[in-house]
Amino acid sequence: MIKTIAYEAPYVVILDQNQLPQRVVYESCATAEQVAGAIRELKVRGAPLIGVAAAFGLALAMQQYQGSVADLHSYYQGKRDLLAATRPTAVNLFWALQRMDEVLQSSQGCAPGAVGERLLQAAQDLLEDDIRVNEAMGEKGQELLGGSVRVMTICNAGALATCGYGTALGVIRSAARRNKIEQVWACETRPVLQGARLTVWELMHDGIPVTLISDNMAASVMRRGEVDAVLVGADRIAANGDTANKIGTYGLAVLAAYHRIPFYVVAPSSTIDLSLASGEEIPIEERHGDEIRQFRGVYFTVPEAPVFNPAFDVTPHELITAIVTEKGIIQPPFADSMAAAFKTG
Ligand code: MRU
Repeated sequence: MIKTIAYEAPYVVILDQNQLPQRVVYESCATAEQVAGAIRELKVRGAPLIGVAAAFGLALAMQQYQGSVADLHSYYQGKRDLLAATRPTAVNLFWALQRMDEVLQSSQGCAPGAVGERLLQAAQDLLEDDIRVNEAMGEKGQELLGGSVRVMTICNAGALATCGYGTALGVIRSAARRNKIEQVWACETRPVLQGARLTVWELMHDGIPVTLISDNMAASVMRRGEVDAVLVGADRIAANGDTANKIGTYGLAVLAAYHRIPFYVVAPSSTIDLSLASGEEIPIEERHGDEIRQFRGVYFTVPEAPVFNPAFDVTPHELITAIVTEKGIIQPPFADSMAAAFKTG
């Protein structure tokens, strides 16, 4: 299995995904600031992985704490704020930091060293849980697919976006183990090409048949009758089922509806944000325009060209056939079925 993140004292070690597929390079982050930078720069990316990386960044900072018991909480808060400010859309980031807050709160009265150890264990638990949850989604989700299917996906919702196995690609992996996958159509995913660079690499690594297309070919491939299902990940799902995912996902959902192709979202419960009534409330990250103007430092347009670069879009719930989670497959009407499956208290 591809390792995306690990704690190897005294570092948080991450796979630098910006260098894939040409180079497999691991980077040792020595500080929470370096972990935050790696998240901002997309060296680590994908909603579940961002959450776990932030948790490790926070645990790392607390391992290094040398101050008094009295100052511990404000030090923690400073590092937490830094990590929380990296990327706004994936709710898994805030979910993971919240898990860490709960561990801090339950560590009242512990010496700073013991608090650090407990937080490190909590981050490690998040990593291991993520793999288990992905495998559970894979098993449940593959039941949606018949034999010999051709599926389409966008971005990378795979092992590389998680601590292992993946969400949408986890379902594809589980289906492939049962010889159900005839073809995966991977949309390249402009502007930073997570589909071309990461999904293609990951699926070829596992021997799963994959064909790369540029994003503007999706409609044509569907029209030719060569897609049986679309499977995507998610960065945040609102209470009514509206789903934020990589820019271009909404377009695929519109196309799938037109061509009567089922459109499945695959995401762990840590991606579900019942505090937001609809997708209109999901904050959408806008990134630097050079991601559109250039690739790896080479401009292919006028360097000063005005551009618009939202990293995510929102797919309205009515375009989604079902949402695969580790708790089961959530069917429409999502407002009711999500409340029943996920409401606590
Ligand atoms: O900008 P990225 O690469 O972090 O965007 C990732 C996606 O949009 C994924 O589809 C999503 O996080 C789900 S990953 C299991």
